[in-house]
Amino acid sequence: MAKAVAHANIALVKYWGKRDAALNLPVAGSLSLTLDGLRTETTVERLGRGGEDEVRLNGELADAGARRRVQSFVDRVRAQASSQEAVRVESHNHFPTASGLASSASAFAALAGAACAAFGLERSEAELSVLARLGSGSAARSIFGGFARMQAGERADGQDAHAVPVASQIELGAVIGLVTGKAKAVGSTEGMNRTRETSPYDRAWIQTVERDLPAVEQALRSGDFDELARLTEGNCLAMHANGMAARPGLIYWAPATIALMHTVRSLRAGGVPTFFTIDAGPHVVAFCSPEAMAEIQSVFEKLEGVQEVRACRTGPGIQVEA
Ligand code: DP6
Repeated sequence: MAKAVAHANIALVKYWGKRDAALNLPVAGSLSLTLDGLRTETTVERLGRGGEDEVRLNGELADAGARRRVQSFVDRVRAQASSQEAVRVESHNHFPTASGLASSASAFAALAGAACAAFGLERSEAELSVLARLGSGSAARSIFGGFARMQAGERADGQDAHAVPVASQIELGAVIGLVTGKAKAVGSTEGMNRTRETSPYDRAWIQTVERDLPAVEQALRSGDFDELARLTEGNCLAMHANGMAARPGLIYWAPATIALMHTVRSLRAGGVPTFFTIDAGPHVVAFCSPEAMAEIQSVFEKLEGVQEVRACRTGPGIQVEA
């Protein structure tokens, strides 16, 4: 039996658009921070030929959709190992209860590591990142700890579309304000496809990402916190503006989302080093200097519509045990 542990990541420069749906290739790069608090542990056990795959998520048998997604991922690993053995996959998410957070990133990173180890495939981090991407685009970045940049790549087979680690002078924590509400209305895959097909702003969005990526890397390298704040918030708002301009428009925000954005900005105006980002859902992530985490957490906890607050520090890359 093989086991892998991976952590979720939150993007500062967002991935929102695919150039190839089958191979899950992004139109542009992206850049994220892996976080320690959001952990997935996955085991993969080979059951021999002729058996049936078994998929358990958080102790329960997976529903048909999740089972298919895991199986078709494992099929790729079986093909690489020239094996037809069935597997038992067990995955546990150590996430806040109100979640709706991007669990697919840590899930497919951990599954890539555990499945390769179970079938005796030795893979580099870049190769694991390529594989994880096939499960979920953001999972490619969770192979690495700290800051990671996803490369869009140019090859049609996607072998150069993987993440790489990024050096930084800036250390960040993240305080996540989980906003009350149901699971997100439109999933990332559907939302980004709709945006690409119908939003009049999509070209401008891709150009924005191509400008923001080197600028964010430069801000990290030189330790320019204010520039990082300006770029990250701008990129997040541009992604959401692009989604809102799709038809029908994507509105991921709830009232508390907007309250949290204003709160982060007024904290920053008052001298607290923090800035926000938002994924395809209502929750708000306040990136901040680690010293500011406790203060931001206590401010967030008092806001109406905030169900739970989770403070995370920088997380490690994938850990695999064969
Ligand atoms: C808004 O990785 O969930 O969180 O590749 O279709 O599985 P798929 O999409 P996914 O998209 C994440 C989108 C995002 C931005 C980001 O993490 O970069």
